[in-house]
Amino acid sequence: MRAETFSGYEGLKLIELPKPAVTKAKLLVRITAAGVTPLDHTILSGKFHGSKAPLVLGNEGAGVVEQGGGTDFPVGSRVMFFGTYGAFEDGTDSEWVAVRKEDLCLIPDNVDDVSAAGIPVAYLTAQVALTLAGFRAGKTVLAPAIGGSIGNAVTQLARALGAKHAMSSTTNHAKAEQAKALGFNEVVDTSSEKLGDGVRRITSGYGADIVIDGVGGEVLSEALGVLALGGSLTTLGYSASRKTTIDVTNLIVPQASIRGLNMFAQPKAAITDAWKVIVSLLKAGAIKPIVAKTFPLVEAAAALRYLVEGRPFGRVVLTI
Ligand SMILES: NC(=O)c1ccc[n+]([C@@H]2O[C@H](COP(=O)([O-])OP(=O)(O)OC[C@H]3O[C@@H](n4cnc5c(N)ncnc54)[C@H](OP(=O)(O)O)[C@@H]3O)[C@@H](O)[C@H]2O)c1
Repeated sequence: MRAETFSGYEGLKLIELPKPAVTKAKLLVRITAAGVTPLDHTILSGKFHGSKAPLVLGNEGAGVVEQGGGTDFPVGSRVMFFGTYGAFEDGTDSEWVAVRKEDLCLIPDNVDDVSAAGIPVAYLTAQVALTLAGFRAGKTVLAPAIGGSIGNAVTQLARALGAKHAMSSTTNHAKAEQAKALGFNEVVDTSSEKLGDGVRRITSGYGADIVIDGVGGEVLSEALGVLALGGSLTTLGYSASRKTTIDVTNLIVPQASIRGLNMFAQPKAAITDAWKVIVSLLKAGAIKPIVAKTFPLVEAAAALRYLVEGRPFGRVVLTI
């Protein structure tokens, strides 16, 4: 499925492309599942710097090494990956992708391909963000949007790695109930309580040492108001809005800071280190990726619309 133009959902077309070439640096992966992310929507709407149409979207995926694997990734290995695919070169909404070895990670046996396809972007971003924010056991963390990929991955990682509180939020009462049923007990239902009030209630007034925010807009501005002394907010996305207004005293009084994160600008070592943590927690069953719905590849436009407009609890994945 290729975006012929960056003009919205209608730009996506099913086309035939030659199999990508295997080189010394890249091996051929037969894609079995591709994660659908808001980045696909940003690009398809013509709002992402650097992407050029026509482009096969899909920033992450899972599949089987078909050619050129070597000893680290022998032919037949199940792999998952993220990289510049679907943004600066053709991506995973496709039967085959030539993938750089350094982008690959073996899928643990206890994780199926559909779940694996939705792991790389969310969990790598979450783990890198927590590390850059100085996370360690005992810290108090807030990651808004429990049903969203970033909010959920940060919450699961922080909890598994010993956070004192791993908090999240949702604007939707039904999702708050769903979160509770899934064992997420520190979720603020902002349909009935302000984000700041909820965080102060859960932490007995302390607030959050670390906020990782992919929502932007008012959520970012309210989250700044709960930073604990010396706390930090990392902004990495804008599901609600790219713009907001902040009260500067929310930074001044607690001597807090705000920083940005761009996964396309991470050094290789940061990704390798993050994969180690993620794989070990996956193997131990301490983190569990949540898939909301799968769609066949040809329904890529419907899948993306479902993610952006339906705001499901969990990941949307294309099966190929
Ligand atoms: N900087 C990077 O390198 C990087 C890496 C990964 C992702 N991102 C970005 O991070 C952002 C989040 O990604 P994601 O995968 O977590 O998105 P997602 O899975 O689509 O989740 C977004 C969540 O945000 C909440 N939301 C949406 N619109 C809202 C609104 N108007 N007001 C309040 N909440 C709203 C919804 O939760 P409720 O319905 O529960 O309220 C929704 O489930 C995206 O912009 C993505 O592109 C950036």
